[in-house]
Parts: sequence; structure tokens; C-alpha cells
Amino acid sequence: MNKKIYVGMSADLVHPGHINILKEAAKLGKVTVGLLTDKAIASYKRLPYMTYEQRKDVLENIKGVVEVIAQETLDYRPNLEALKPDIVVHGDDWKEGVQFKTRQQVIDTLSQWGGKLVEIKYTEGISSTQLNNSLKEIGTTPDIRRSRLRRLVESKNIVRIMESHNALSGLIIETIKGDTDVEYDGMWSSSLTDSTSKGKPDIETVDVSTRITTINEIFEVTTKPMIYDADTGGIPEHFAFTVRTLERTGISAVIIEDKTGLKKNSLFGNDVAQIQDTIENFCQKIQIGKNAQITDDFMIIARIESLILEKGMDDAVTRAKAYIKSGADGIMIHSRQKSPDEILEFCKILRKHNENITIIVVPTSFNQITAKELSESGVNIVIYANHMLRAAYPGMMNVAKSILDNDRSLEAEKDLLSIKKILDLIPGTR
Ligand code: SPV
Ligand code: MG
Repeated sequence: MNKKIYVGMSADLVHPGHINILKEAAKLGKVTVGLLTDKAIASYKRLPYMTYEQRKDVLENIKGVVEVIAQETLDYRPNLEALKPDIVVHGDDWKEGVQFKTRQQVIDTLSQWGGKLVEIKYTEGISSTQLNNSLKEIGTTPDIRRSRLRRLVESKNIVRIMESHNALSGLIIETIKGDTDVEYDGMWSSSLTDSTSKGKPDIETVDVSTRITTINEIFEVTTKPMIYDADTGGIPEHFAFTVRTLERTGISAVIIEDKTGLKKNSLFGNDVAQIQDTIENFCQKIQIGKNAQITDDFMIIARIESLILEKGMDDAVTRAKAYIKSGADGIMIHSRQKSPDEILEFCKILRKHNENITIIVVPTSFNQITAKELSESGVNIVIYANHMLRAAYPGMMNVAKSILDNDRSLEAEKDLLSIKKILDLIPGTR
């Protein structure tokens, strides 16, 4: 009965399946749980709802668990080699899928000291995936949603953010998965696409209240965090109120750009008149914003327009250093070059100066670079800033024209979502 038993777990949504494994493990000996850290979990699936400390607290109070230690990687080997348990206990549902390789490594490692793997029959009828879907239906709270961005930045090599300009685009971002199960981590409320979808120019003419109304519609049907594009942030006195409004709504971060006067979209560069703010003024705006925020979770990110306005790398770096000193939680560096070179050079210099500051990039024009490559260059967050709207618009234009040209909708039908699919698109329509 003094056998050392090791159980690796995420223990986010603890259900009878977990309890069964722990019960069976406790029958075999003294149970140590290797609790996967946020980073370990985020390396192969979504970030857990509960923080590591919350999950640890739950596990430590479950009967039969003697000790909870951190398992820093999906790979069990470092902990197994340190602990040399007699038995590892796991559900029998990891023989296929992402954990297949991990399972074999566990068996091989245990065999070095005659340890063995005991697999417990999977508990039917309940799973984390089901609970996760139910939780998504229940929704989230502003506090939980707001805090998720910082946790994501801390846990993931790269945080993927997609533009959302209405609830339906938000729903796509909430649920879509790539072939390797990769997901978007959150949403970007873009001034460009929010203005455009309202038929207005991107010149700060859509006021904060209107922007927030759209965001509330998005938040009603999603749980992922959001970064808000606040353009210049307006005059500092107004920015303080904007920060409070965004924070209260459950938005995780605001990005303000170091421009002043009538704001024009950055992708015009110097083709239109754009004035960069002074370092001094912009630092003051950052400070006023930081003083206005109430929670520790909210982030104020300074966006540097030096490369857009062809002011040079030195100016960009000088500004980054000053903005960080003023309390900015992150730096967004923007470029409209076709090549990512200047962005990569900036990241290299800034990372040397500051290892931890969150770096954000928006690869609209230099779209050949992958998120993985950006991550390897020190970028923390990548924002696909306008792609949902740019995808929708050509579809609508083509269909509207086709119906006029053909005097009927038959020809357009092939480009349309079927009636059956649109009726089933939103749960509860039936
Ligand atoms: C936006 O999406 O509104 C942005 C990014 O600010 S950009 O359009 O590239 O300036
Ligand atoms: Mg914008």
C-alpha cells in the first residue's frame, strides 16, 4: 500500500470521470497528482477556465489525493524521472489522438525502474468536451473574459486574434477550428471594419457608445476575450472614461495609436496627411489611462506609427522605450510594407531591450509570414485585423450583382449558404 502512484491531470472541469480515476488510483497507493500548468495545457488545447491555483485547490481537497505538484509540460517524463513512481494511472482514452505519443513515452520511462501503467476504463456519458460546450452556452462574465488575455499571453507561444465586427463573425471566431484543432484565442474590435460595416469612414466618427453596443451583441454569444482598437484614444481626459467603459464591459485590452488630429487609417501611410503625436503627449495619455483602470487584468497597449509614417527604426525604438516606461502593458508595431523585414528588425531590437513586454503585430500587408514565425521572432499576439469583413463583402457584392444580371437568383445559389444550413446555423432557431 506504500506504492507511489502518479496521475497527470488538467482537472479544469472536474467530473465523475476524474473522480473515478482518482478513486482507483488511491486503491493502489499514495497518489501524487501532476497538475498540468496553463502553459502545458495551452500547448495542445484551449486555455483552462480555472487558473492553476484554482485547479490545485480543488484537487488538494479531493479524497485520496496526497500531493499535487506542477507538471510543466504535456510530456510526463521530467516528473516521472524525478519521482520514479511505481504506477502511473490514466484513463484508457489516450490510446489515440494527441496523447498517443505521450502514452508510449510514459510506458517506456516507467520500464526503466520496473514501474507500470494502469489504465482505467473511460467513464461513458460525461466528458470535458461536453461540459465545455455547455459552458459556452451558459456564457461568461466580464471579469472572467477580461482576465483571459493576460493568461493567454503568459501561457501560449502566440495568441491568435481575429477581427470581429458583429455577433455572427464573433460566433465563427468562437467555434472555428483548424485541422490541428488550433483555435482563435480572441477577437479584435477594429475601427476600420466596425466603421466600414456601418458605412462610415475610419476617422473616429463611430463613437464609443456605438462601438460598445456592437461589442455587447458580440459578447452576448461568445466567451473569448477582445482587444479594442481605440484609434488615438481621443484627448487624454476622454480616454480615461473610455478605459473605464471598456474595462467594465469585459474587454481585455485597448490599443491606442500615437497619432493626433483627424485620424486616418494607417494603411494609407503618407498618401494622406497624418500627424504623429509627440512622445511626451502620448506618454501622458498612457499614464492617464493606466491611472484610470481599476483591475490588474486590463491592458493598455501603445501602438507605434513611426514605420507607417516613414520616421525610421530609431524613432520607433525610442518611442517603444518611452511608452514602456510610462506604463504601457504592450507595444503594437505597425507596418504597411509587403515584406515583414522592418517588423522583424524592430522585434529583435525591442526584445533585446525588454524580454517581457507584450509585442503585437498586424500582418495585413506582409501576409506571407506565419504566426509560428512571428512567435519565433518574439511576437506575442498576432491580429488578423480586417479579414472577416473583407471575406464577407465580395460574397455579398457578387450575389447582389448576379441577381440583377440574371434577373433571378438561380445562378447565385451556388455561392450561397443553403436554406437548410442557415436555419440550423444558430442553435435554438428550430
Ligand atoms: C484597424 O483594424 O482598424 C486597425 C489596423 O487599426 S489598420 O487598419 O491596419 O490600421
Ligand atoms: Mg483602426
